[in-house]
Amino acid sequence: MSGRGSNLQALLDAAADPAFPAEIALVISNISGAYALERAAKAGVPTEIIPHKQYASRKEFDAAVDRALRAAGVEIVCLAGFMRLLTTGFVEGWNGRMLNIHPSLLPSFKGLHTHERALEAGVKLHGCTVHLVTPELDDGPIVVQAAVPVLAGDDADALAARVLEQEHRAYPLALRLLVEGKVAVDGARATVDAQGAGSLISPLP
Ligand code: GAR
Repeated sequence: MSGRGSNLQALLDAAADPAFPAEIALVISNISGAYALERAAKAGVPTEIIPHKQYASRKEFDAAVDRALRAAGVEIVCLAGFMRLLTTGFVEGWNGRMLNIHPSLLPSFKGLHTHERALEAGVKLHGCTVHLVTPELDDGPIVVQAAVPVLAGDDADALAARVLEQEHRAYPLALRLLVEGKVAVDGARATVDAQGAGSLISPLP
């Protein structure tokens, strides 16, 4: 993770409930001052800083991350505001076991500045997506999506805040579904078998 860590906080909060089926074993950041590290420390979760600048290549950086994850006994990786591209080798090593959250309703608005682009496009619905990570950027089987309305007068910050609130619901839900074995991947698609807690969070009318 790279920064603020509000999605990490949502995962930490969810995992603090004894009924949640996953434990947060390790928080890794490539940025030494990331507030996310403080959040983890407050929750009593081990942290590791792996500064990408200390590695000669993406491959070596990813290998260091991989070693840290495996040494901690991690079974599922959650990318949360992680703003670096990952090598194909790393991604393939966590195939089906690595989630990412992206601030748009994929496959719309892959990449950066999603809220600005959603406003420019004039979409009436926007949102976020939790998906399994594949080597292609912001691609991969969709596990959970949350939609929010785009309201008259929204600027990018207002829209981002509305989406972020839903990110904090969507990510713990997606992790729970994956851990509980309720996510089946068939090629590029995931189907979610969840009675009661589906994979769609929809906006208020
Ligand atoms: C979130 O909005 C997340 O969806 C986005 O970065 C933000 C991180 O916030 N991720 C991406 O853009 C990934 N390409 P957080 O640090 O408060 O969780």
